[in-house]
Amino acid sequence: MNEKIYTLAIESSCDETAAAVLENGRQIRSNIVHSQIDIHKAFGGVVPEIASRNHLVKISEVVDSALSEAGIGYPEIDHIAVTYGPGLVGALLVGLSEAKALAYALDIPLVPVNHIEGHIAANYIAFPELEPPFICLVVSGGHTHLVEVLNYTTFNVIGRTRDDAAGEAFDKVARTIGLGYPGGPAIDRVAKDGNPKAIDFPRAMLEQDNLDFSFSGLKSAVLNYLNSLKMRGEAPVTEDVAASFQAAVVDVLKAKAEAALAQTGYKKLVLAGGVAANSALREALSSIEGIECFFPPLSLCTDNAAMIGCAGYYHYLAGTRGHLAVNAVPNLKIGEMRF
Ligand code: KG4
Ligand code: ZN
Repeated sequence: MNEKIYTLAIESSCDETAAAVLENGRQIRSNIVHSQIDIHKAFGGVVPEIASRNHLVKISEVVDSALSEAGIGYPEIDHIAVTYGPGLVGALLVGLSEAKALAYALDIPLVPVNHIEGHIAANYIAFPELEPPFICLVVSGGHTHLVEVLNYTTFNVIGRTRDDAAGEAFDKVARTIGLGYPGGPAIDRVAKDGNPKAIDFPRAMLEQDNLDFSFSGLKSAVLNYLNSLKMRGEAPVTEDVAASFQAAVVDVLKAKAEAALAQTGYKKLVLAGGVAANSALREALSSIEGIECFFPPLSLCTDNAAMIGCAGYYHYLAGTRGHLAVNAVPNLKIGEMRF
């Protein structure tokens, strides 16, 4: 029996093939991410079949690198944490099959992990003193949720998007204004030179007494604005469109996060997911008074396996165990266990 607990984590839910080794759940021994962004760029977004094929090509190499960089051998690993949902089914299956094969061969526990719970757990790695309960704003390419994190493995979703996720809106608008994929970082960069008040885009659902979001109307408003300029023969100022769109998203995220904090009485706000990298969002949330804000570093905001390992470690301690028939669950919900 090791004195220390070592987790080998595997993540392949979208377009990053990733593996990590963690010591006692919160300390990164290695965190290898092989991004396929350059491959998918040509298509303006992630192509699921191409993602699966590339995961297959890279997965063993990425796992080997994680172990060698950590200086840890297979016999020292205590359990394997792996993302089994939500995500692209073919992509998930690659990481899951690798994890199952290793768990079987090494005769160690397999801990299936929810990708979104992984994003939340990224904060435990970044902030060693952070403990639940708190409110987490999860903003990624596929998800926008306000979550009451009750303890390391118990979650209560108190707000969600009714249509597009925040990151999805960033990606779609970026494509429309010619900024390419992935759109979030491009909009963030370009918006720095634009006027966020230049165009008055809608702030959806602000007037409603709930914690839900909607971003598809905003995306349509940007399209309508561009079309009306085109009909008048005018060219858009890309920087202003980016800054005004970003301001609309950030205003709504901030207002709903503030409402969630007021409603629940928590004083800790934690940010998670790829859009947590957004500089305007970080600035806006830091200005909420009387609240302690936690923003993970950029490398832990976007998809990686260290966050999956941390979430898996706490599930391991709580007794969560998978089996070799665990399947990928593309539409897995936060807090749900489907295996
Ligand atoms: O969490 P993530 O890596 O993947 C999912 O689980 O979905 O999030 C990716 C999303 C993309 O939509 C990307 O455009 C967005 O995060 N993103 C950003 C920024 N960096 C990444 N959005 C806004 N500003 C950024 N700086
Ligand atoms: Zn993600």
